Amino acid sequence: AEAEADEFWLFGYGSLIWKPPPHFDRRIPGWVTGYVRRFWQASEDHRGTPEAPGRVVTLISRSYWEQLTDHHDSAPEKVWGVAYRIIPDRVAEVKDYLDIREINGYTIHYTPFHPAPGINTNDPLTALPEKLPIQTLVYIGTPDNEQFVGPQDPQKLAEHIYRSEGPSGLNRDYLWGLEKALDELSPESGDEHVTDLSNRVRAVAAAETTEGKGMVAS
Ligand code: BEZ
Repeated sequence: AEAEADEFWLFGYGSLIWKPPPHFDRRIPGWVTGYVRRFWQASEDHRGTPEAPGRVVTLISRSYWEQLTDHHDSAPEKVWGVAYRIIPDRVAEVKDYLDIREINGYTIHYTPFHPAPGINTNDPLTALPEKLPIQTLVYIGTPDNEQFVGPQDPQKLAEHIYRSEGPSGLNRDYLWGLEKALDELSPESGDEHVTDLSNRVRAVAAAETTEGKGMVAS
């Protein structure tokens, strides 16, 4: 058996799903519970700027979320994402790298991760440790961080995402990237908050394109 106490696993529920961390040797789809994924974190460094912050996802603790008024008033029990195991020899190096990503309000938390059933445990990429669930490190922008925005009107949020851009690219590409990445994890991994926002942004984009071509006036 491996020295599992030394293992370092990371849970990604946002861009980490399609942009893996460096030096991983396993990538396992699955979920965590007790949280709700929302585009309630301002991004000044990746999908926006300090002058015009974009919007990215964070996890809200379910018990806190239940006290809020959210226009998207249902949320799946399971927050789907992926767990990455970092190659044991590279853990120190990767932890240094991850400290850099921790900026902009996210702090380090730990949560149990449940691998999706039916994954191929003979494949080296999806081989499971003996002890489940897997304890994973997760980045969360908690409600007390400066970049936390809180509940927003979905249409206004979609328009905001449509307009935003930062050093990592267009905010809408982050949203659609997340929608696609979730779609590819499992038939059950959809998140209505993400798909509703994605559809709204597509509608905004279609309306802008139509106006730009002068089709509204004709
Ligand atoms: C994520 O994909 O889980 C993530 C990435 C960067 C900051 C916070 C979360």
